[in-house]
Amino acid sequence: MKKTIVALAGDGIGPEIMQAGLRVLEAVQSSLSFEYEVVEKAFGGAGIDAKGHPLPPDTLEACQRADAVLLAAIGSPQYDSAPVRPEEGLLALRKELGLYANIRPVTIFPALKHLSPLKEERIADVDFVVVRELTGGIYFGQHELQEDVARDVNEYQAFEIERILRQAFELARTRKKKVTSIDKQNVLATSKLWRKVADRIAQDYPDVVLEHQLVDSAAMVMITHPARFDVLVTENLFGDILSDEASVLSGTLGVMPSASHGTGASLYEPIHGSAPDIAGQGIANPVSMILSVAMMLRESFGESAVAQKIEDAVAASFAAGILTRDLGGNASTLEAVDAIIKHL
Ligand code: IPM
Ligand code: MG
Repeated sequence: MKKTIVALAGDGIGPEIMQAGLRVLEAVQSSLSFEYEVVEKAFGGAGIDAKGHPLPPDTLEACQRADAVLLAAIGSPQYDSAPVRPEEGLLALRKELGLYANIRPVTIFPALKHLSPLKEERIADVDFVVVRELTGGIYFGQHELQEDVARDVNEYQAFEIERILRQAFELARTRKKKVTSIDKQNVLATSKLWRKVADRIAQDYPDVVLEHQLVDSAAMVMITHPARFDVLVTENLFGDILSDEASVLSGTLGVMPSASHGTGASLYEPIHGSAPDIAGQGIANPVSMILSVAMMLRESFGESAVAQKIEDAVAASFAAGILTRDLGGNASTLEAVDAIIKHL
């Protein structure tokens, strides 16, 4: 049976980079062990425009029936003061699909090392993964805004902490067998529970080393000794902040993919936003979308070899000097995709 891949192009540069990702998917089609169909759906600002909601019901249904979901980018300044924002569609989609485990790998492309804001020797061996809890915590607690007082509730249940910790430990088993759990247990009750649960789960993984680190000091180590990390696991808000910090180590936001796993179909998306300032100009960097396609092939469809081929083609095309403007080159989106396909 054909696999169904739902494509949510979204806003800004979303449609351009989605097209790039789907072209690369087509280019490897004959190497795949399955056939697929792509179903395109409106989402984010595009959902608001077409159907009056950032997550229209038919988009949600398609995602629930899908084998995997690709998302490009959402958000646009035109909705900044709108009653419903595109971002609410993303949070609703994560919740509806139960996507509790957000995986954000941080790798450095040798050809891009000079773009890092850190000295080359500091980033030489950087290769870690941020595992972010994605459907709990302060993002989904009660939010209340009054004239002179505001409140956001941060709540975690033990089972939510347990399942994300298990994801991190399982991932660590395929890597260097080290998990750094990040919290703020010197202040927060949620973090005290987090640490307790982490220690308990660690007993099921005696082959993996667990270390705890406070979030403020983790933010520092990420700059001073980023190569020390392997698998980082943390709650929703800390993960949001630390993964943005991590993403700049590589010198650009434009090359980082992510996966979100839950109980149903997984979702794959670049970690960057919709870059409205350059939308429609044909100059957006398509690499994070293309690497998200590779992640999808590996993690949802077991096509590790093909995923690796795509990742190698990206590295080769960087090494050949085909760089979009954000990377200091002058290649267009189309030229960048053509070069990657050529290296395939
Ligand atoms: C991310 C983004 C989202 C988040 C926004 C767009 C709601 O920053 O995926 O990291 O905060 O989770
Ligand atoms: Mg973020």
